[in-house]
Amino acid sequence: AVADALRALALRPKAELHLHLEGAVRPATLVGLARRAGSPLFHDLAAVRARSRPGSLAGFLTLYRDVCRLLRGPDDFALLARDLTARLRRGRIVYAEVYVSPAVVERVGLPWPPVRDAVERVFAAHERAGHGRVRVLLDAVRHLGPDAAHRVLDLQASHPWPRAVGFGLGGDELALPARDFVSVYRRLPGLGLAPVVHAGETGGPDSVAEALRWLRPRRIAHGVGAAADPALVRRLARSGVALDVCLTSNAATGTHPLGGHPVLRLLRSGVAVTLATDDPGLFGTTLLGEYRLLARLGATERELASVLRAGFRAALSPAGRHQPPASATTLS
Ligand code: ADE
Ligand code: ZN
Repeated sequence: AVADALRALALRPKAELHLHLEGAVRPATLVGLARRAGSPLFHDLAAVRARSRPGSLAGFLTLYRDVCRLLRGPDDFALLARDLTARLRRGRIVYAEVYVSPAVVERVGLPWPPVRDAVERVFAAHERAGHGRVRVLLDAVRHLGPDAAHRVLDLQASHPWPRAVGFGLGGDELALPARDFVSVYRRLPGLGLAPVVHAGETGGPDSVAEALRWLRPRRIAHGVGAAADPALVRRLARSGVALDVCLTSNAATGTHPLGGHPVLRLLRSGVAVTLATDDPGLFGTTLLGEYRLLARLGATERELASVLRAGFRAALSPAGRHQPPASATTLS
């Protein structure tokens, strides 16, 4: 039955709420960018694949930085956006919330507005062609500190991007506590942005509890570190705050290996869980692949269906909240 459910899932419209623009790069694109730069990194597809299991979050963040350093202009970001929308089409992902990081753009020395415009054109074309909706989560980098995060909001205030519906923090969650970003998150309602945050990836229950208390997120990227504290799990279940869980990513960074991953325990405790790829190009995964892993951990057909539903329910935009009706082959 679960095998049938997975076949049905391949055809069903899906939502994905946690993937990063730069991490969606196709390996072949990465090889092309590296060649142009004369960089010995990523000289062929095998070199990209060899780095797809960095083994630690620090190792992954180094990989991410190596990728970002190859980006030279708005056209490169448009290329990433096309890689991403092509993935959405192939995976029948009709609603996506994509992390886009103005801080990364400025760190590689580019002005934000033309990059934003180049990415916007690609997302708009994807929507016009009827492939589904894309919304943006503006991302700041936690270890760069609150001033850099304020800068991201300043950019949104001076050049509003209507496609942006949320704001989050990525990067090294152990570098700075959530409370350091309270003044940043306090600005979100005025900018029409919903709060989300990466927590419980390398961090445990304390980090998730800290993020909940100080930032009041609508969803948490990863969040699985909460599982070690049953009282916190109950609180999460009651709150309805969803966790956007990325199994391949957790395994690749060594933060939560697949064997013993707490995702099913969270789900069975009533926590809203969605599945996502995080950085599908760098980790070599797909959203369907993530559902397969959840099935391999023992999820039932009903549980797979509830995760599918949660992806739409937890959408920040009304554009994503409506799950398209099932056709002939259904998942319960
Ligand atoms: N940026 C992209 N992927 C990330 C992850 N898994 N954790 C923190 N920051 C990220
Ligand atoms: Zn992430």
